[in-house]
Amino acid sequence: MRTNQVHCKPALLAIAFMVLLFSSSDMYAQTTNQMNKEIEASIDRLLTQLSLEEKVAMCHAQSKFSTPGVPRLGIPEIWMSDGPHGVRGEINWDNWGYAGWTNDSITAFPALTSLAATFNPELSKAYGKSIGEEARYRKKDIILGPGVNIYRTPLNGRNFEYMGEDPYLASIMVVPYIQGLQQNGVAACVKHFVLNNQELWRNHINVEVSDRALYEIYLPAFKTAIQEGQAWSIMGAYNKYRGQFCSHNERLLTKILKDDWGFDGVVITDWGSAHDTKEAALYGLDMEMGTGTDGLTTTLKNAYDNYYLAYPFLELLKSGEIEEKYVDDKVRRILRLMFRTNMNPNRSFGRMNNQEHLDVARSVGAEGMVLLKNEDSFFPIPTDKKLTIAVIGENATRAMTVGGGSSELKAKNEISPLQGIRERFKNATIVHAMGYASGPPAYGRVIPSELDAEVLKKEAVIAASQADVVLFFGGLNKNHHQDCEGGDRQQFGLPFGQDELLNEILNVNDNVGVVLVSGNAVGMPWLSEVKAVMQAWYIGSEAGHAIADVLSGTVNPSGKLPFSFPKKLTDNAAHYYGEISYPGDSINQHYKDDILVGYRWHDTKKIKPLFAFGHGLSYTTYAISDVTTDKSEYTETESIKIAYTVSNTGNANGAEVVQVYVGKLKSKVDRAIKELKGFDKVKVKKGTKESGEISIDIADLKYYEESISNWRLEKGDYMIYVGNASDNIVKKLKISIY
Ligand code: BGC
Repeated sequence: MRTNQVHCKPALLAIAFMVLLFSSSDMYAQTTNQMNKEIEASIDRLLTQLSLEEKVAMCHAQSKFSTPGVPRLGIPEIWMSDGPHGVRGEINWDNWGYAGWTNDSITAFPALTSLAATFNPELSKAYGKSIGEEARYRKKDIILGPGVNIYRTPLNGRNFEYMGEDPYLASIMVVPYIQGLQQNGVAACVKHFVLNNQELWRNHINVEVSDRALYEIYLPAFKTAIQEGQAWSIMGAYNKYRGQFCSHNERLLTKILKDDWGFDGVVITDWGSAHDTKEAALYGLDMEMGTGTDGLTTTLKNAYDNYYLAYPFLELLKSGEIEEKYVDDKVRRILRLMFRTNMNPNRSFGRMNNQEHLDVARSVGAEGMVLLKNEDSFFPIPTDKKLTIAVIGENATRAMTVGGGSSELKAKNEISPLQGIRERFKNATIVHAMGYASGPPAYGRVIPSELDAEVLKKEAVIAASQADVVLFFGGLNKNHHQDCEGGDRQQFGLPFGQDELLNEILNVNDNVGVVLVSGNAVGMPWLSEVKAVMQAWYIGSEAGHAIADVLSGTVNPSGKLPFSFPKKLTDNAAHYYGEISYPGDSINQHYKDDILVGYRWHDTKKIKPLFAFGHGLSYTTYAISDVTTDKSEYTETESIKIAYTVSNTGNANGAEVVQVYVGKLKSKVDRAIKELKGFDKVKVKKGTKESGEISIDIADLKYYEESISNWRLEKGDYMIYVGNASDNIVKKLKISIY
């Protein structure tokens, strides 16, 4: 047995030596190739030494969040954790309870909607790197995230964990997160592959969608995560696609992911998303996690042996019904992931809860905030004045790292908005009233009794009537049927009587600004009457500080909406087509909105949103000018270079997001008017200007042609739209492709 270990160790030493050696990028490439060869050779050797039982054991869980290693060969266990906003508190070995450790409190980073709203890939890198460091410190090998399911409906309970409605934005933002995370020797597990765009009936709903929508809208962020981000693992979704569960879906996993995209990592189930041994064995699933073990323990001593990829799999292998090459491929992938993570001797030790991580969380939080409306320069609120500020609303004090499902975090510290405001506005008198209550955090909410609600409301209205400024902190929370896994929202409007409360507040004070803490669009019947609206998202540990930074003007808001806010639910494409489109008939669901998701729908159907994708105001003003393309005619292999200048014409330093959309004129196929194809976040000091260039490959203007099952480029005229929001285009330029 001991000699077996020796085969593995020289390979590791060789890898360590080679990592120390390389210095130039050429050498890096050569060294990486050499390392990969060494790793594959080590895997070949290990495969010959593993018994069938040991191989099968590696393909399924041994506890809620780990898989067994092979102690005989020195192969370690794999440890995983949610994801994606921080490293989750330690969970019990065999049930969902928290283990009650005292050393697992971490930095909670802003939700991925907030990260997406920064439109800043550098921040995504810093976010990924920081979370990777915390994961390493907590001895995790895989972080279950990031999530890139497309925002299709504002009712989806998990939108806050994803990166918005646009495949290009999500693709650009997800790559640096993965790279930053994985540079720590911790694997990303991109989730949930794919079409898990609602929580209602997620465990069984069968999604029917056209190939065009699949390839153009729902797959791109996953593809980029795999091919450019080089993610080492991916999580199969709960739902079905074309009648087969996504976690062992032949087309999705075997054909698209592994064959077409060349994914060499591990496909992991969502927790409990495997349903069939043969399909799991044959159709691309590598590792089974989270299958219920209750009631399965009567005959075998270890409940995990009952997993689809455990004993039943072993039986089929032994009987020859399934060839050994299938388990070998799974184990090869798992070992490859291990050589990249827990069998990589060079990975760092990690660190957690340091100032640097808090600073990253705060920067993302502040930069992701989106100023939706700002009449009479309501924001920023001066800090030097002796104002009376009424801070009203449950979300001013509620811990938002708690709840939401698997992304729930045990934050070492969470600064509430109220605390942040109290610390920052030292010259002001801060009065706080809860205004409404939703019940304690966690699954299942308790609606306060009418009497309590009345008392809370009255108190808030009195506070508002006596204040110079009212800050209403409302929105959603992380309870069931809000922004929370396992269920969808049940209404588009604000819950818990917030609309009524706001109306009463507006009756006594018209100087009201709303700060929305949510991961979803909400209806705003009071919009025309409030002075300002700030979309703050869920921000994590540094929430209060980041909010105070922006409200006080220390940070000039520069976030942009990563998804459209419709005026009403039926203005959203998924809902426009009725129940069969959302939520389906409980068995099937047809994505009748097809490729027209989000702003693609609003633009093309001329349905004005309440706030458009890409919208976000600032405390200064910008002018985008001198927009030109390098040429007017291009061939298929060229790129369009779009030059621009951004001038800061106001009174504060800031950053503007130049957005480039492209649309085909007179297309032979149905298309959206325009699609985001490039953006730059440009920092511009007041009174100055910055010039830049955005490059778009012509090849990226292809559409997916179903008749040939491939991408096709249409020749002819295209329009380039440049602006600072999807509904604020300042320059249109025609180009043609020949
Ligand atoms: C969620 C995943 C999560 C897993 C483990 C599932 O319910 O859908 O996103 O990673 O649980 O907690």
